[in-house]
Amino acid sequence: MKIYEIDNDSIVEIDELIDVVLDKGVVKTGLDIFNYNDHLLIPGKLLIKDTKVLKRTKTAGIKRIPIQKENGGGIWNESGESILHKFHKKYKKITDGDVEKQVKNLIQQKTEAHQGVKVAKTAVKKVIHDIRSNGGRFEYNEVEDTVVKLIDVISESENPYSLLARNIFAYDDYLLNHSISVCTIGTAVLYQVNRLFKDLKILGKKSKTASKMLKLKNHDGKRDFYSIDEIKQISIGYFLHDIGKVAVPENLLNKQGSFTEKEFETVKKHSYEYGKVLLNKNGIENEFIENSVMYHHGPLYEGENRTYPDKLNHLEIPEYVKICKLTDIYDAMTSKRAYKDAINPAEVITSLYKNYAYKCNQLQLILHSFVKSIGNVPPGTIIQLKNKQTAFVLDSQGPVIILLTDQKGDKLKKVPDPVNLSDSESSKKYEIDPTKRLSAPMDAYNVLPNFLKRMYET
Ligand SMILES: [Fe+2]
Ligand SMILES: [Fe+2]
Repeated sequence: MKIYEIDNDSIVEIDELIDVVLDKGVVKTGLDIFNYNDHLLIPGKLLIKDTKVLKRTKTAGIKRIPIQKENGGGIWNESGESILHKFHKKYKKITDGDVEKQVKNLIQQKTEAHQGVKVAKTAVKKVIHDIRSNGGRFEYNEVEDTVVKLIDVISESENPYSLLARNIFAYDDYLLNHSISVCTIGTAVLYQVNRLFKDLKILGKKSKTASKMLKLKNHDGKRDFYSIDEIKQISIGYFLHDIGKVAVPENLLNKQGSFTEKEFETVKKHSYEYGKVLLNKNGIENEFIENSVMYHHGPLYEGENRTYPDKLNHLEIPEYVKICKLTDIYDAMTSKRAYKDAINPAEVITSLYKNYAYKCNQLQLILHSFVKSIGNVPPGTIIQLKNKQTAFVLDSQGPVIILLTDQKGDKLKKVPDPVNLSDSESSKKYEIDPTKRLSAPMDAYNVLPNFLKRMYET
């Protein structure tokens, strides 16, 4: 069951509230709602009578907001009757209609993500082509436009690009997809770091962990939010981080097995040398872009091996560049290449945690945001459970799953209610098997219930 009730607050979808107001009802949240940068979006005492403020909140990436009854919050219909209880009832359990709505949303997100990737791929192709044929020059403005469009669809809680199944062989194709993945996943992590900072600020001195984390600097000697404009510039840096690879011979980039010392020297230069030269040639003098391009193979902690450029201290590397490096590793490991298979995301996240999370607090903060933003089970995928059942992921938060088969692999006759695995009993009973590869719904078409099949037919 998905519980939308936390203490005395009800968490209600913005879309539902818009419907209430369109039906001439009114809404009061009872507590102030802020965006990530601490700008007030809805004052708690405001009686919301038109949809403007709700739509603005939605545009800020917020899908659900709390209504705090004990502080005077509530939802009333046209005749002034309180209808908050209806939302309690409705949101305590997912009904079939809610599931259908959620699946419809997933499909819409996927379609938008596919569209976004198509446009971005054309842009990266053009950058590569321009660099090769114009002596290193490319249209920076077009890159900026592409990145702005690309990150515009990253919603508050999910990275829609994590939904896309990748099947990549050619080097060119890899570079295209890699730029897009690092840009979108990295940006989703940045948004999540902002959200985490906001939560930590609220906890403040009350929590030991929070005060420890709040001391981790990311801005001119202090901790602060990444502003919308900074996020944009960093995203462009993520998009261009491997631009210097255009100057590395293809046979080296696709090489199976390890590099000779000499080969590795050439490959290393894609960041601090070739990348930097290309930025200079195009007059790009932006520290966020330069740092991402030059230092995304720098050390994440003291004494890390095989990092470059040489003699760099991990303390000199900005947090957003560390996010770029971790995203880079994540994408390389989860992608299929000519010489290697893809590793499933859950396994990759586990290994990132093992290798980095205990090295320092900052890496813990980044990895925590990483898991939160991409979720280790993307919605819309099919997973295997340790008890041999197959399930559909409805929501990566939880995650919330729908069981599709019994333990023998036979399709269930009746579709059961969704199960939220954040509940410890369910998570034990339906433990996910991280070694079994996730698959796309179409691969498991025969065991899908009809309403899911219908969703994929339209
Ligand atoms: Fe790189
Ligand atoms: Fe890379």
